[in-house]
Amino acid sequence: MHFTTLSVLATLAGSSEAFFRISCPGRVVRTRLDPVVTPGSVAGHVHTISGGAGFAPTMTYEGMRVSNCSTCTVKQDMSNYWTPQLYVKFKNGTFMPVPEVGDPEDVTGGMTAYYLQRRGNELNEKLHAFPEGFRMVAGDPSIRSFGNDSAAKAISYSCLSGPNIPETNKMPNYNCPGGLRAQVFFPSCWNGKDLDTPDHKSHMSYPVGQEYNNGACPPDFPIHMVSIFYEVLYDTAKFSDQWEGNQHPFVFSNGDATGYSFHGDFINGWDVDVLQRAIDECTDDSGQVEKCPVLTQFTAQECQECRLPEQVDEVNDGHLDKLPGCNPVTYEGNQVVPQQCNDGIELGIRQTNYIDLTSTKEWEYIGCGRDNIGDRAFTGPSWSRDNTTIESCVDFCSAEGHTYAGLEYKGECFCADKLDFRYAPRDGIMGACSMRCTGNSDQTCGGWAAMSIYHACPENGPCANNEQFGKAKAQSTEVKRATIGAPRALSRKIRTHAREILAA
Ligand SMILES: *[C@@H]1O[C@H](CO)[C@@H](O)[C@H](O)[C@H]1NC(C)=O
Ligand SMILES: *[C@@H]1O[C@H](CO)[C@@H](O)[C@H](O)[C@H]1NC(C)=O
Ligand SMILES: *[C@@H]1O[C@H](CO)[C@@H](O)[C@H](O)[C@H]1NC(C)=O
Ligand SMILES: *[C@@H]1O[C@H](CO)[C@@H](O)[C@H](O)[C@H]1NC(C)=O
Repeated sequence: MHFTTLSVLATLAGSSEAFFRISCPGRVVRTRLDPVVTPGSVAGHVHTISGGAGFAPTMTYEGMRVSNCSTCTVKQDMSNYWTPQLYVKFKNGTFMPVPEVGDPEDVTGGMTAYYLQRRGNELNEKLHAFPEGFRMVAGDPSIRSFGNDSAAKAISYSCLSGPNIPETNKMPNYNCPGGLRAQVFFPSCWNGKDLDTPDHKSHMSYPVGQEYNNGACPPDFPIHMVSIFYEVLYDTAKFSDQWEGNQHPFVFSNGDATGYSFHGDFINGWDVDVLQRAIDECTDDSGQVEKCPVLTQFTAQECQECRLPEQVDEVNDGHLDKLPGCNPVTYEGNQVVPQQCNDGIELGIRQTNYIDLTSTKEWEYIGCGRDNIGDRAFTGPSWSRDNTTIESCVDFCSAEGHTYAGLEYKGECFCADKLDFRYAPRDGIMGACSMRCTGNSDQTCGGWAAMSIYHACPENGPCANNEQFGKAKAQSTEVKRATIGAPRALSRKIRTHAREILAA
């Protein structure tokens, strides 16, 4: 799904240096948070976040390390990687997130993180893993012109439409049939002292002498780290009818229509010893992470099941009248005026993964499970419609005398009397249910091989939704580390279900 070329390597003619590429075939969440720049509060603009499920408004290394999953494939890496979301501004003035290539309905998201063993001038220079608690930002959301220094050159765009199209430092004013890839290369030289600095940059420097992405470290930044580089491939071609002459319709969530202000944030969540071993021992120059035996991998499905609810209570997808926050659209050379902007948006869960039917229908949400098209999870009556709502499926299964209802791939409804453990929602995993129902775009009806599962409440038994990633998560992020872990009531709920699952 992610088309990655090695353009970043092409700048180093003749050299063959080791690197590994970590694919992140899903986003953990898209939300207006930035725990590096504005910890504990709503951020200025919307970010799309990949990596571990320990992502929260306020983060600690320890909290990241106990993540149950990541949207990036390497199991030893619970880091978070994020960039501003790209939107398309339609001719009628509304905005919508630009999906990534291979994700036409914007349900998975994703990116690629490269780890490159770029040594300075000495062949055997020691390259270091990021220490625990390390974080940094590359790029500057406030700029709208080209600075012509390493930091500016580290932001680039690759127009995928055929060979020989040079990379640019702003979004190009021509259509890219294969998509537009936004890229950010992080500085690799550390001052050896600060895990972070107030501007999230001063503890780091780009190498000097050669290029921003290669060369020796300057004396004040003597610790050469592994170089990291992000790629996000947007499916811009599908909006080719929205151009106004030569002006493309794209704008980042911070209002930037130039692209100069693309930026990346990194918070280290690695098992640091493993990362160091990978840097030292993985000498393959193909980039294939499989060739680095120190690292083991999640499947793409596991990555896509690793999601979190939005932790800011606002809508940031679908058709929007304006970009979330105070982010007027700005063009090349425009001054970005910092806005005093209190739009009343606060931290809080935007819960979209289930609806509460406990009092109206006495059915409860069990969670998001899996399905297998060749060996269906639910084998009772089923249908696929273009007007499917959760209620219509639950009513149907209920009328047919079944106790489970599963909604899948936006319009499908399946009934059953038992839940096979192979397909059951897994504790601590939100699951890959992220498609809007065909009959109600405010509801979630499963995903690809993913089923939103509702269950008839047992007579005289408890009737409660699996809120693990709804209200419960909201509380745990407010109280931070102390309450990482599911509330007891929920565990009881899951145990009740575990019994039913085992009995099935
Ligand atoms: C704006 O234009 C887009 C793209 O043509 C369309 O999908 C959307 O419904 C329009 N919205 C309004 C409010 O007209
Ligand atoms: C960037 O700086 C170099 C060296 O000073 C100069 O030759 C080049 O023209 C500049 N490029 C831009 C786009 O300003
Ligand atoms: C939904 O579609 C089905 C089949 O196409 C139809 O029988 C049913 O009446 C529709 N329901 C509503 C509420 O429109
Ligand atoms: C990990 O999963 C367990 C259940 O298996 C859950 O209790 C815990 O809250 C999860 N951890 C995080 C950080 O979400």
